[in-house]
Amino acid sequence: MKGLRIISTGRALPSKCMTNDDMSRLVDTSDEWISTRTGIRQRYFCEAEGNADLAAAAAGLALKRSGIAPGQLCACIVATVTPDYATPSMGCMVQRRLGLPEDLPCFDISVGCTGFVYGLQIARGLLLQDRRPYALVVGSEALSHVLDFADRSTCVLFGDGAGAAVVTLDETPYACVLGSRGDPAALSVAGPGLPRAIHMDGPAVFRFAVEALPRCARTLLDQAGLTLEDIRWFVPHQANARIISSAARRLGVPPERFYQNMERYGNTSAASIPIALDEMSQQGLLQRGDRILCIGFGAGLTWGGALLEW
Ligand code: UT7
Repeated sequence: MKGLRIISTGRALPSKCMTNDDMSRLVDTSDEWISTRTGIRQRYFCEAEGNADLAAAAAGLALKRSGIAPGQLCACIVATVTPDYATPSMGCMVQRRLGLPEDLPCFDISVGCTGFVYGLQIARGLLLQDRRPYALVVGSEALSHVLDFADRSTCVLFGDGAGAAVVTLDETPYACVLGSRGDPAALSVAGPGLPRAIHMDGPAVFRFAVEALPRCARTLLDQAGLTLEDIRWFVPHQANARIISSAARRLGVPPERFYQNMERYGNTSAASIPIALDEMSQQGLLQRGDRILCIGFGAGLTWGGALLEW
């Protein structure tokens, strides 16, 4: 089975940082409640930036670091739940800003917080059918554009940001699992131009996540014929530190092997996994040959995991 390798990454954050204390000036909440229930201490919100600005900045950085020419790309895929427009897609907006050639598909996918993992698998499918060896996969969100700043149960959780990766096919171990359970009531985000709203049944999504995360990990390992010890890093969607510690406990893995950064960014939905990967790469935490498990879960409800070798 042809594997998928990430050859470079990039990330972009808006300039405005909001701490939990800043949020407590908007709604009846506290740093103590937010940090103990979620692990989040701050997040970034767009001011002048649009989502396409973040997506293009992250994608441009990943492309620059890859050293490849845009003509070697076979696709530009943007995972997002907060596109600037219903159409044109964010994919086409990134294409325009980066000057990508016309003969490649540029499009968005809406898979909630699982979007980046779906994007990897879609990129792999396109790469298998194209002579061009690279694809660009982006996760980008401007959740502040849809947050209801009167609803404390959701507005303190989310943040804006973008992460991107240039990927290519490779003879490395690879496995992928994707799934969805039509359950629109659990978590929904209003479309562009509609009144601000995220609706979430937090405890229901929490229960779903603590079951889905270890299940995905086990399925991926079974598919690849590997064990937990073969995995250097678990890179989960960054929604809640308690979800991650529960998954670590259920799998019997020390929590330190689960990368966590929701403290700094909040829940950035489709952007959370590629932001984490870029941070890890820049910090030198990922060495060539390291096997990683990326696992997302979120609106849909959807889940997905990818086992990759760095
Ligand atoms: O990324 C997509 C996937 N999303 C997720 O994975 C989110 C999953 N869910 C969660 O992370 C958690 O369910 C939350 C962090 C959203 C909520 O934590 P919880 O422990 O499930 O709290 P809860 O919703 O059961 O609310 C407990 C209490 C309530 O008060 P009462 O009814 O017990 O008096 C809420 O009104 O906490 C109250 N509350 C708050 N208090 C202070 C809710 N939000 C806040 C807040 N500040 N911001």
